[in-house]
Amino acid sequence: MKKLAAGNWKMNGSSAALSEVTALLAAQPAPNCEMLLCPPATLIAPMAVAARGSALRVGGQDCHPEAAGAHTGDISAALLKDAGASHVILGHSERRADHGETDALVAAKAAAALATGLTAIICVGETEAERDSGQTLDVVGRQIAGSLPAGATAGNLVVAYEPVWAIGTGRTPTIPQIAEVHAFIRARLGAAMGAEAPGVRILYGGSVKPSNAAEIFGVAHVDGALVGGASLKAVDFSAIVAALSAAQTGAA
Ligand code: PGA
Repeated sequence: MKKLAAGNWKMNGSSAALSEVTALLAAQPAPNCEMLLCPPATLIAPMAVAARGSALRVGGQDCHPEAAGAHTGDISAALLKDAGASHVILGHSERRADHGETDALVAAKAAAALATGLTAIICVGETEAERDSGQTLDVVGRQIAGSLPAGATAGNLVVAYEPVWAIGTGRTPTIPQIAEVHAFIRARLGAAMGAEAPGVRILYGGSVKPSNAAEIFGVAHVDGALVGGASLKAVDFSAIVAALSAAQTGAA
């Protein structure tokens, strides 16, 4: 399994930020892992041009469940693909919170992504209140059960475990806490997907940075990272890619 370092630029990145892509490709011309950036929709096409012929893949941050039509302000999986995307993040906690996205909607969006040939990165994770009240595995289990589309395979599905309270806060779960949830997700994928489950990448996300990446990448069933803030600067994201490449080499 090829590990995956994915960056989520969220609502950041004007065209001037494409210089970070140039710097990233100079620093990581041939990483030993997969490398993906998901910029705002406005930057997908120019970033895909900048990444052409390189190891960098480009993805979207959301898509609509319908293939086309009267949905002002939305973007379809086909339009993402046409712009040069190969992946799409779905069910990020910010979309679940800001836009009321349910598991069923995330599953419908993921089905549209798969039908278009995009790889779906489905995000799950508990709030702080849910962790404090001992509900973490219940919440993550429910999200996995409800958000996975039919027809998912190791090749077109990635799961990202992102505790809501760790996103953008500088706080991370302990290593045993990360290990517990990732092993749990692997088991649930096994129940849902059978033989495909061992090959599905399970990313950890939430305050991943150069200083904690190597330790997190040493955890069983952590197959990469979904990185927000630290993906905006090439120097930081490159260091995370380097840590994941080292983990890939160690696992080979
Ligand atoms: P962060 O965000 O790395 O800035 O905590 C992670 C994410 O939301 O994917």
